[in-house]
Amino acid sequence: PTKLYQEPYRLQAHFSPKEKWMNDPNGMVYYKGVYHLFFQYYPKATVWGPMHWGHAVSNDLIHWKQLSIALYPDKLGYIFSGSVVIDKDNTSGLGTKGKPAMVAIFTHHNPKGEKAGTSTYQNQSIAYSLDEGTTWTKYKGNPVVKNPGIKDFRDPKVFWYAPGNKWVMTLATKDRITFYSSPNLKDWKKESEFGRMLGAHGGVWECPDLIPLKLNGKEYWALLVSINPGGPNGGSATQYFVGHFDGNKFTPTSTETKWIDHGPDNYAGVTWSNTGNRKIFLGWMSNWLYANETPTVKWRSATTIPRELSLKSAAGDIWLTSNPVEELENIVTKTINVDAGLLAKDNNIFSVIKQTPTQYRLKFNTQAVKDYSVILSNNAGEKLVIGYNAKNSRYYIDRTRAGQNKFNKQFASIAYAPRLSLSPTSDFELLVDASSVELFADGGLSNLTGIYFPKIPYTRLSIVNNGMEIEDLQIQPLKSIW
Ligand code: FRU
Repeated sequence: PTKLYQEPYRLQAHFSPKEKWMNDPNGMVYYKGVYHLFFQYYPKATVWGPMHWGHAVSNDLIHWKQLSIALYPDKLGYIFSGSVVIDKDNTSGLGTKGKPAMVAIFTHHNPKGEKAGTSTYQNQSIAYSLDEGTTWTKYKGNPVVKNPGIKDFRDPKVFWYAPGNKWVMTLATKDRITFYSSPNLKDWKKESEFGRMLGAHGGVWECPDLIPLKLNGKEYWALLVSINPGGPNGGSATQYFVGHFDGNKFTPTSTETKWIDHGPDNYAGVTWSNTGNRKIFLGWMSNWLYANETPTVKWRSATTIPRELSLKSAAGDIWLTSNPVEELENIVTKTINVDAGLLAKDNNIFSVIKQTPTQYRLKFNTQAVKDYSVILSNNAGEKLVIGYNAKNSRYYIDRTRAGQNKFNKQFASIAYAPRLSLSPTSDFELLVDASSVELFADGGLSNLTGIYFPKIPYTRLSIVNNGMEIEDLQIQPLKSIW
């Protein structure tokens, strides 16, 4: 039998569960030097089922250790997505000031609720841990936010709003986000709603997150909202709004629909809590269109690379940029500066660098005036193409011939992301793993994430540059995190 973490398609630089099914990342929180990651988990199969919260920890956001299951379904239902906070001032009374509780706020999803009536279907509950996330106790007074009669009522993300001395919850409520507040994590009051008339509405809204970020010394708030279906390239995707938040109400500064990543495989992402001014995002690297059908055997789905979020002005508006966290350096084996001139003789970067890494970072700069692309290919005639189309000013991932795709007819696709930067030079960075590629273009302004399943690994990496200069071409093979 294949060794654990060495199965076909197993990612070597990204978290994935040892075995069985995973979807959304949940409850990410930084506490006492440890990054916690909980996740939607079904321990009995490689397809979605009654949801638990799996648990993994890391000291650097890159190397992960999976621990035992944190939350099990109970008589109120499955444990759907949610967040974790550190109750430092013991507002909940569930810990003490010296030993604050970690409090999880999540959705209890009652599968029988659909028949029994929407008020029992999805409700918000809490649980707490006094031993740094190892064991959890569900609160006796659950649920703490009762369903007012909306079917889709889920995915609470909570943060401490210091100016108002209160907790704020963002909750996905069908076609909008509802904000609640609480002094103690137990008693919640509705504050306002946002989004009914703005953003994309091709599907139900899920997994919101509201985070403060500065741009040129000025504070803004970014509201992340996942949507399924209705993404820019089909199925699931995550949009965001930039605006202001006064403790009660969110007001966007623009009516433009924006996407944190245009690729098909970055969904349900939210940020870590308790990381100060750093805002670190993590998504689920799949899509509800085919998540249950991808050709991995023992396990299903991985997370994106953790990404640092920032704001940037471009094209007359304010955008979120995402880039791999600097901790990714921890697994860089070396930086190889490739003389682009050598590629004229042998246009296979792997033969020029004399190694064929499975996971690596690739960076270069070039003029954004003609088409260019990076091609990963193998001897089975399969290829994955990631590039830029100058005429339409957009980046793309073409996985139509990248490998196995019969498992779902919507999988073989080309995904596009508009170029937002007006600079004549594009900077192009790829993070490639055994079955995933993440594109960060123009400093993380235009991003695309896609998964793929070649029959045999890619052994050729080439660049099509149409006569343009490829500058500062760099490849960094990465160590496996396992
Ligand atoms: C998003 C989602 C959430 C829900 C969870 C269930 O992918 O549908 O809205 O809480 O997955 O597993």
